[in-house]
Amino acid sequence: MSSTPSDALIRISNVKHAYRTDAGPLPVLDGFNVEVPQGAFTAVVGPSGCGKSTLTRLIAGLLFPDEGDVILHGEKVTSPRNTVGMAFQNPVLLEWRTILDNVCLPLEIVPNDLSRKQKHDRGYELLAMVGLQGFEDKKPSELSGGMRQRASLCRALAHRPDVLILDEPFGALDAFTREDLWQIMHELRHNEAFTCLLITHDLRESVFLADQVVVMSGRPAKTQYVLDVPFGRDRVLDDLYTPEATQMLLDLRHQIQVAQGRPLEELEHEPEAPESGS
Ligand SMILES: Nc1ncnc2c1ncn2[C@@H]1O[C@H](COP(=O)(O)OP(=O)(O)OP(=O)(O)O)[C@@H](O)[C@H]1O
Ligand SMILES: [Mg+2]
Repeated sequence: MSSTPSDALIRISNVKHAYRTDAGPLPVLDGFNVEVPQGAFTAVVGPSGCGKSTLTRLIAGLLFPDEGDVILHGEKVTSPRNTVGMAFQNPVLLEWRTILDNVCLPLEIVPNDLSRKQKHDRGYELLAMVGLQGFEDKKPSELSGGMRQRASLCRALAHRPDVLILDEPFGALDAFTREDLWQIMHELRHNEAFTCLLITHDLRESVFLADQVVVMSGRPAKTQYVLDVPFGRDRVLDDLYTPEATQMLLDLRHQIQVAQGRPLEELEHEPEAPESGS
C-alpha cells in the first residue's frame, strides 16, 4: 500500500540508532524507513537481533533515534505516547488482578472521563470480541496461553489507541492457536480503529494479516524490501494455500536469506520448494 507523507499515520524516515555499550556504540538501525497509512496493517520481518524490538521502542517513544525522524500523526515523537497500545510475546498479565481488571488497567493509567462502570463495560466489550466472555473474573493462571494472549490484546486496545504495536505476540503459541489468534486480529481490526505494526518471524502470519510486509536487513538494519499484499480484509486462511501466496512467501523467504547474508542470485538458482511456514 503506498502513501503520501500526509496520510501516513506512522512515518519513520532515515532512522539511525546505536546503543551505547561498554564495548562502544552498537549500530542497530541505519537508514530504516517505513510509512504506515492510517488504518493500515504493516508487518515487519527480519533476522533475529536486527533491531525489530528497537523499532517498536522508537515508535512508542521509549527510545529516540540518533538521526532521522519517527513521526506519528504528523508529530515528531519526543516522549512516551499514550495513544499507542503494545502487546508482546509474553502477555505479562498481573496475577493478583482478574482478567477484566487486567484488561481495564490502561483505563486507570491513561487520563479519561470514564466512570468505573464505563471502564468495565469497555473491558467486557473487548473480551466478548475475542471470545473470552465468561472469563472476566478468572485470574490469569486459570487461562490457557492462547486465552492469556487474547486478554493481552484486549488490554493493549482498552484505551482505544491510534497505534497498535505487536512484538511477536503469537510467537509462543502452537500453530492452531496461532491461526485462531490471526482470525481474531482480523475481527478486532473490523471492530476497532487502529493502525498496526506487527513484528513477526512467521512469514505466513505476515501475509495473512498485513497490507504491507517490510523486510529489515541484517544489523545495522535498513529497509531491504517491501511487499504489498494484494489480499483484502476479507481474506481467509485458505488464501495462504494459493499460488499467489506461495510466490509471496517464497519472495519473503529469499529476502530473509539475503538479510542473513546469502546473495539473491544464489537463491534464484535453487529449485523451488513448497512453503511450509517460516
Ligand atoms: N538496551 C540495550 N543495550 C544494548 N544493546 C541492546 C539493547 N537492546 C537491544 N540491544 C541489542 O541491539 C540489537 C537489536 O536488538 P532487538 O531486540 O531490537 O532485536 P530484534 O530484532 O528484536 O531481535 P529478536 O528477533 O531476537 O527479537 C541486538 O544485538 C541486541 O543485543
Ligand atoms: Mg525482538
